[in-house]
Amino acid sequence: MYNWDTFLIPYKQAVEELKIKFKGIREQYQKSSMHTPIEFVTGRVKPVTSIIDKAKRKNIPLTRIEEDMQDLAGIRIVCQFVEDINTIIEFIRLRTDFKIVEERDYINHKKESGYRSYHIVLKYPVETIAGKKQIYVELQIRTLAMNFWATIEHSLNYKYSGEIPEYFKQRLQRAAEAAFQLDEEMSQIREEVREAQQIISKKYDRLNNE
Ligand code: GTP
Ligand code: MG
Repeated sequence: MYNWDTFLIPYKQAVEELKIKFKGIREQYQKSSMHTPIEFVTGRVKPVTSIIDKAKRKNIPLTRIEEDMQDLAGIRIVCQFVEDINTIIEFIRLRTDFKIVEERDYINHKKESGYRSYHIVLKYPVETIAGKKQIYVELQIRTLAMNFWATIEHSLNYKYSGEIPEYFKQRLQRAAEAAFQLDEEMSQIREEVREAQQIISKKYDRLNNE
């Protein structure tokens, strides 16, 4: 029998380490009174039953799981605004503690379901008793609105075992469109609030210098 617990230890380690790192970023922004591009961070190791299901579905032999299943370790970074996603992507590209293997932009290229998110696959080094081990980690970066949609769609998929009735599929696509509009509106409101704040602070500067 395959020893899943042992096999998954480095993945668990990677998830814990990356959660700490991204939460640390969030905390630094909060302390600095700058807007934080990270609203919250979650992470998980794929449950063994899901690993086995996916391996069957995708015809992946157990010996190929490490290489062919790149989401055994998953980190999700949720932001308030779409612009925050770009900030995080830029930031991730500059880091030297892991390597980017692949990027999938489901924000500019949304999926047929309506799913939107930015995915980055990393090669992340974990220190083990047998030395350094490079493992894949999947990062999903999305707004609160994208996350709301994906969470609801995921539970419907679960309920209907992946066969969501056509009628609900269409409603979900409409809901995805509404989530997109919400992100757009929020970005615009944010931009206007920022401009208004800049005008006010310039006014104060002028008054103080008179
Ligand atoms: P899998 O979809 O995991 O089999 O692998 P893939 O290589 O096609 O990766 P992809 O980038 O398509 O999706 C990876 C992950 O993104 C999934 O495990 C989900 O967490 C999420 N995801 C992708 N598409 C959808 C979707 O239509 N709805 C929801 N709720 N999540 C999705
Ligand atoms: Mg897929």
